[in-house]
Amino acid sequence: MMLLLVAVCIYLCVVWCSKEDLVGYYENLIETEAANAFVYKLPEDARDYETEDDTATDIGHYDFIIIGAGSTGSVIANRLSEIQTWRILLLEAGQYSNIINEIPSLYTLGVYSKYNWGFKSVPQKTACLGIINESCIIPRGKGVGGTTLINGLTYSRGHPEDYNKWAEFTNDPSWSYNNVLQYFKKSEDFHQTDPGAPVDWKYHGTGANKEQGYALTDYNARLHAGASIVQYNTKNGKRHDQATAFLKPVMDRTNLVISSESYVTKIHINNVTKEAEGCTFTRHGRTYFVAANKEVILSAGAISSPQILMLSGIGLKGHLEEVGIPVIQNLSVGVSLREHAGTFGLQFASNMSITKQSLNEKVREYLENGTGALTSNTQSHVLGWYQSSLEKVPDYPDLEMVTDLVVSVSQMGKKFLGWKDDIWDTLWSDKKNISFYFTIVLLHAKSVGNIKLKSKCPFEYPLIDYNLLSDPDNRDIDSLYEGIQMVLKLANTTAFKKIGAEFVHTQILPACKEFQYLSKDYWYCFLRQTTLAVFHPVGTCPVGKDPMEGAVVDSNFKVFGVRKLRVADSSIFPFTLSGHPHAPCTMIGEKISDVIKADYLPNVVFGEEEKVFVLKKTRF
Ligand SMILES: Cc1cc2nc3c(=O)[nH]c(=O)nc-3n(C[C@H](O)[C@H](O)[C@H](O)COP(=O)(O)OP(=O)(O)OC[C@H]3O[C@@H](n4cnc5c(N)ncnc54)[C@H](O)[C@@H]3O)c2cc1C
Ligand SMILES: *[C@@H]1O[C@H](CO)[C@@H](O)[C@H](O)[C@H]1NC(C)=O
Ligand SMILES: *[C@@H]1O[C@H](CO)[C@@H](O)[C@H](O)[C@H]1NC(C)=O
Ligand SMILES: *[C@@H]1O[C@H](CO)[C@@H](O)[C@H](O)[C@H]1NC(C)=O
Ligand SMILES: *[C@@H]1O[C@H](CO)[C@@H](O)[C@H](O)[C@H]1NC(C)=O
Ligand SMILES: *[C@@H]1O[C@H](CO)[C@@H](O)[C@H](O)[C@H]1NC(C)=O
Ligand SMILES: *[C@@H]1O[C@H](CO)[C@@H](O)[C@H](O)[C@H]1NC(C)=O
Ligand SMILES: *[C@@H]1O[C@H](CO)[C@@H](O)[C@H](O)[C@H]1NC(C)=O
Repeated sequence: MMLLLVAVCIYLCVVWCSKEDLVGYYENLIETEAANAFVYKLPEDARDYETEDDTATDIGHYDFIIIGAGSTGSVIANRLSEIQTWRILLLEAGQYSNIINEIPSLYTLGVYSKYNWGFKSVPQKTACLGIINESCIIPRGKGVGGTTLINGLTYSRGHPEDYNKWAEFTNDPSWSYNNVLQYFKKSEDFHQTDPGAPVDWKYHGTGANKEQGYALTDYNARLHAGASIVQYNTKNGKRHDQATAFLKPVMDRTNLVISSESYVTKIHINNVTKEAEGCTFTRHGRTYFVAANKEVILSAGAISSPQILMLSGIGLKGHLEEVGIPVIQNLSVGVSLREHAGTFGLQFASNMSITKQSLNEKVREYLENGTGALTSNTQSHVLGWYQSSLEKVPDYPDLEMVTDLVVSVSQMGKKFLGWKDDIWDTLWSDKKNISFYFTIVLLHAKSVGNIKLKSKCPFEYPLIDYNLLSDPDNRDIDSLYEGIQMVLKLANTTAFKKIGAEFVHTQILPACKEFQYLSKDYWYCFLRQTTLAVFHPVGTCPVGKDPMEGAVVDSNFKVFGVRKLRVADSSIFPFTLSGHPHAPCTMIGEKISDVIKADYLPNVVFGEEEKVFVLKKTRF
């Protein structure tokens, strides 16, 4: 009896002590990582991957080589390795994630860490003017999981009309919403955690607006315009990144090899047969060549996929010649870069009180219950989808309004987007009691940017030019101006008045001094200062019918004019969608996997595979 009591006491102590240790460990880690992120300098090139000797060691062959373990590549690696006779190699430049990536609210720290490539645009003339060097930041995930290691976790598919437009554009009904819905549902394990949130179950896989006439909606279902509680890619309060969802559960498949820290410099394409033969990559100071029996699938994302294609001789003839790369196929790679343009800086004070918790309390809640402040990105609570008078397609939103609550204004916020001192001091001064702010996102911008190579060196970053708000008709800036008016109106409603909401734009922006305060001209100046690229670059290797019209891949993801080479990731979107890109990338990963299986195994009927999110965890 005595012995049992002692045993119970020891057990309780072990449990309790280790729990206290764990809380302390997390607190310490979060504080250290925050300090590191604050002084972290993003790389300006990929020279860390450079090797002294570029003689390649041949490491044999695989059936499929997938480049990039991000939103899309992770799905493809999982689905193709279901076929046990296929040998799959997944090459990823970055490393495996850590427990900081796992905590949703710390995503700004991930952006200032080794998990971000740290691209920046070339100096801009029409937007991003409030950012240091007039360069928009372009965070892109580097690691097993890709950009899902550092993204904002919002799960949103876009509007059905996006996919119907896509089907029309490619002249291929397989892209219509009714058809791609099966792929969205295939990998989703939807759990409702907020009983008040509206959910339309027909549209999910299982596993403050009324005054203005807007409904409260489930934006991933049929009705789209309205405001919603955000749906997140999380599980038990933790980031459910794409590697956790799709790769970790299948690590024990012997036909799947995941090679991290492997930087692809070139896809080899035979210049006579125009067939992709394999690729060269560097790893830990050495150079390797690996051959593909069946195909190479490029999933390196909207910035790196066009870069790799151009380095491999696929791109606009004139540009490749300019940098000294032998041309294999003349295609419009990187010719169009499309983005969501987001206007920041619409701050409000209110008498809403947010319960301030200590880090210790937040960590306890996170570890004990998987709930609380650490489990969502910033403190963003509401997304709204709206339509300006400039969008003529019925029931098709062209503006997204994001509302974020502000607990405290910190210098990390300034560093995150790279604001210039004077803008920061004017808009975000902590003396202003900012309680929440709106970000207005233009969903279908007319302006188009581009990506070019700086040189033929694969360790240089490409030249990225967004050209936001540059369309000659000013349609983009006009739409955002309308968005500002909508926000000001919304904040003037009784619901907002009840919480004492007050627009706190009390100081004129220094760069817009010459204009009359709050006049239309003033707002246009403001828009060019505070409108930034909001991390959703797409369209640099677009899918389409005809390469003469700018298409780089066909509807089966095949690069025009080249054999055994496909591209599948955010670079193939033909235009921006009315939602965030991660969920559509997952859909694309599911779709290409089915297309490839049908190509090689036409007589096999595939049943409903297991839902990936609910597969049990295996060794990792
Ligand atoms: C800060 C931030 C917040 C975001 N928030 C959201 C959000 O809330 N919701 C949402 O839906 N989307 C969000 N996004 C965007 C979304 O995450 C991306 O659009 C999406 O993940 C892109 O997927 P992808 O498959 O195209 O490429 P990625 O996921 O970027 O994957 C590409 C992979 O290829 C690897 N790679 C690149 N070059 C090479 C090379 N040469 N050799 C080997 N490997 C290489 C990269 O390291 C990376 O792992 C956000 C993005 C950022 C940066
Ligand atoms: C701004 O540009 C200058 C000159 O090119 C450069 O030295 C500096 O690092 C840049 N600043 C940032 C934050 O990129
Ligand atoms: C094809 O490549 C080989 C080897 O790199 C080169 O010698 C040859 O000139 C190329 N031929 C063409 C048609 O570009
Ligand atoms: C965890 O949840 C339980 C039940 O809701 C609650 O009593 C407890 O206080 C929570 N723990 C923390 C640390 O918030
Ligand atoms: C901010 O709040 C404090 C305390 O509530 C108040 O004293 C101060 O006047 C407010 N500042 C502004 C600019 O509203
Ligand atoms: C807010 O409402 C008041 C009175 O209802 C009106 O005078 C004012 O112009 C409105 N402001 C905005 C920005 O709509
Ligand atoms: C917030 O401000 C409004 C308007 O000034 C007021 O009616 C309301 O009572 C205030 N609420 C609180 C909780 O202070
Ligand atoms: C290269 O391709 C582009 C886009 O299809 C086309 O406009 C251009 O004329 C082509 N150039 C050559 C030299 O074929």
